[in-house]
Amino acid sequence: MSASDPRDWAVRAIRADEWAAVKAMRLTALRDPLAHLAFLDTYERAVVRPESYWRERTAGAAEGAAGARQVVAEVPGGAWAGTLTVLMEEAGATDWAGHPVERRQGHVVGVYVRPQWRGTGVIGELFDAGVAWAWGRGAERVRLLVHEDNGRAQGCYRKLGFVPSGVTVPGENELEFVLVRD
Ligand SMILES: CC(C)(COP(=O)(O)OP(=O)(O)OC[C@H]1O[C@@H](n2cnc3c(N)ncnc32)[C@H](O)[C@@H]1OP(=O)(O)O)[C@@H](O)C(=O)NCCC(=O)NCCS
Repeated sequence: MSASDPRDWAVRAIRADEWAAVKAMRLTALRDPLAHLAFLDTYERAVVRPESYWRERTAGAAEGAAGARQVVAEVPGGAWAGTLTVLMEEAGATDWAGHPVERRQGHVVGVYVRPQWRGTGVIGELFDAGVAWAWGRGAERVRLLVHEDNGRAQGCYRKLGFVPSGVTVPGENELEFVLVRD
C-alpha cells in the first residue's frame, strides 16, 4: 500500500509511554457530537484530570498489562484513526454498574473512530485485535454496552457478529451486546 492509501493503517496495542496521545485521542472522542450517547465520561471532567491519571490509565491498558488492552489503528505519520479498549472481567466480580459478573469475559469500552475513517473497515480490524486478546486471556465471551439511540454503533456491532443479550442497564438506556466464541 502507498502512504496515501486511506486504508494504510496498522493496528497495535498502545505502549505505556504514549499517555499524551491516549489523552489527546480521548479528549477528541469526548468532543464527538454523539459523545453523550457513546461515553460515560465528559470532556469537561476529563480535560482537568492530572497527568498522573493519564499515565496510570495508559500503563494499565498497554502492551503487557493483564487487566486491559487498548488498541489503536495508526496511519502513516503516526496519527491514530481509531481506538478501543477491552477490560477483562473476572467471574465472581461486580461490574461497574453493580451487577455480578458470571463468567470471565472481555468488556469493550472507549470505542471511537475519527469521522474521516468511519466506514473504512478500520473498526473491524480494531475489534479483531481486541477480541483476539480477550480470547487469548481465556474470556468465554466479549460484551459491550451501547446506547439505545446510538444506531450507527449498533449497526456496526451487529455487522461484527455481536448480538443483543436482552440485558439492559436501567436508567442508562444501555443495551448489552455479546460475542461468543465459535
Ligand atoms: C461507532 C463507530 C466506532 C463505528 O465505526 P464506523 O466505521 O462508523 O462503523 P461502520 O461504518 O463500519 O458500521 C456502521 C454500520 O451501521 C450502519 N448504520 C449507520 N447508521 C445507522 C443507524 N442509524 N441505524 C442502524 N445502522 C446504521 C452503517 O450503514 C454501517 O453498516 P454497513 O457497513 O453495512 O453500511 C464510529 O461511528 C464512531 O466512532 N462513532 C462515535 C463514537 C461512538 O458512538 N462509539 C461507540 C460507543 S458504544
